[in-house]
Amino acid sequence: MSDTAKLNIDGTSYDLPVVVGTEGDRAMDIRKLRQTTGYVCLDDGFANTGSCESAITFVDGEKGILRYRGIPIQQLATQSTFVETCWLLIYGELPTREQLKAWSGLFTKYEMIHEGLYHHFDGFPSTGHPMAILSAMINAMSCYEPGLMEMEDASTFQVSAARLISKLRTIAAAAYKASIGQPIVYPKPHLDYCTNFLHMMFSIPYGDYEPEPEIVAALQLILILHADHEQNCSSSTVRMVASSGANLFASCAAGVCALWGPLHGGANAAVVEMLQYLHDNKVDLKDYIARVKDKNDPLRLMGFGHRVYKTYDPRANIMKATADKLLAKVKGNDPLLEIAKRLEDVALKDKYFIDRNLYPNVDFYSGVILRAMGIPVNMFTVIFAMGRMPGWIANWKEQYDSGGALYRPRQIYTGQSERDYTPIAERGTSDCLAPKVSKKGRPYCELK
Ligand code: ACO
Repeated sequence: MSDTAKLNIDGTSYDLPVVVGTEGDRAMDIRKLRQTTGYVCLDDGFANTGSCESAITFVDGEKGILRYRGIPIQQLATQSTFVETCWLLIYGELPTREQLKAWSGLFTKYEMIHEGLYHHFDGFPSTGHPMAILSAMINAMSCYEPGLMEMEDASTFQVSAARLISKLRTIAAAAYKASIGQPIVYPKPHLDYCTNFLHMMFSIPYGDYEPEPEIVAALQLILILHADHEQNCSSSTVRMVASSGANLFASCAAGVCALWGPLHGGANAAVVEMLQYLHDNKVDLKDYIARVKDKNDPLRLMGFGHRVYKTYDPRANIMKATADKLLAKVKGNDPLLEIAKRLEDVALKDKYFIDRNLYPNVDFYSGVILRAMGIPVNMFTVIFAMGRMPGWIANWKEQYDSGGALYRPRQIYTGQSERDYTPIAERGTSDCLAPKVSKKGRPYCELK
């Protein structure tokens, strides 16, 4: 294949270099396009834009392939641990025995948060959303990070990365405890990453919580499956913030905010709310599917569809099997899992979903698993953030190490042409406050 693409504008031909990835994906390099032609590319939502070259994660959305640093997600899900996967994503290779021991040791060493930080939790109302608290606390935590601005030193970076991943679970659990008015539980150094988090979530002063091994394994799996997903909305946000030279903590706090939305990480909570609604109101699933297909109804089938996957999300397959296994062990059954399976069945036979290649994504079954573990719905996206943190850090590092350009897209301006300022006495009425309804409406709205 040619290593240049030809672009013809008004009879003049321009050569655009072609960049080829290791898996054969091809891109036209348009970095000089405006300079040479006066044109920019318009790509709403960056659906067809490669924003960077990256060696972290490979996704083939047509074939349903996901690999971290070349290793298929199915192998990592069955053979790795979250702590090991963090190293793999950040450093590019599986750790040696010594590296893993030292890396785990850092997680233990830095699992406590500064005592001064605990006072911050008193300042949040009990109704505050844990994602807001998480993002605020990551930034607050940066005030206690002495080496934050000297990331060029490899060991400072490693300590900061380990601190961030380790302390995130402590903050997440503390945010939950504060929200339910229970005393905050401190971490225990002999516990592994997942068991320690569950201990901080569910132990109380007069009783330690000891999770079933299947619950620990399910959490481990969820964290691994969420650990990275190339240039998704939150990772792109982290890279964008990092491109301005912002520090690791500030960039990852921004990632938490991007993840929160229902079209991205917030979908796991929205799925369970949807399933609960269908259950409580005994809604006929065919009627519900008819609503999500109706262009005049803002509703969407949450947990379905993906910007990149045009086939079954490989993570959703693993989640579905885990939901079955975990429920059989700890809960007997869950009517919401049954509804999810029936919904999937109806949707996958429906022409609307077939024509648009809409399949279950990672969020469709993860909420049912988290529910079985006793995790409250408003903590679902926090768990996603815990899982995604190594991916954000790996992307931050890649952006930092590459000395990449400042992210600063262009636009096509569609506003007013130049006009004169009107003094207030001469202004008529204005309808600029009239609500404008987005084309697609809200993806998920109050159902009752
Ligand atoms: N339910 C009903 N219709 C859908 C859905 C859905 N879940 N998803 C997409 N569609 C339809 C759209 O209405 C559109 O139809 P049209 O061509 O007739 O206008 C078509 O499929 C394409 O949809 P887009 O929104 O243009 O596709 P995009 O790639 O931008 O959207 C997204 C991807 C945002 C994930 C979308 O599928 C969605 O909203 N899904 C529900 C929310 C969700 O589960 N998000 C989690 C994603 S995974 C993650 O971030 C971890």
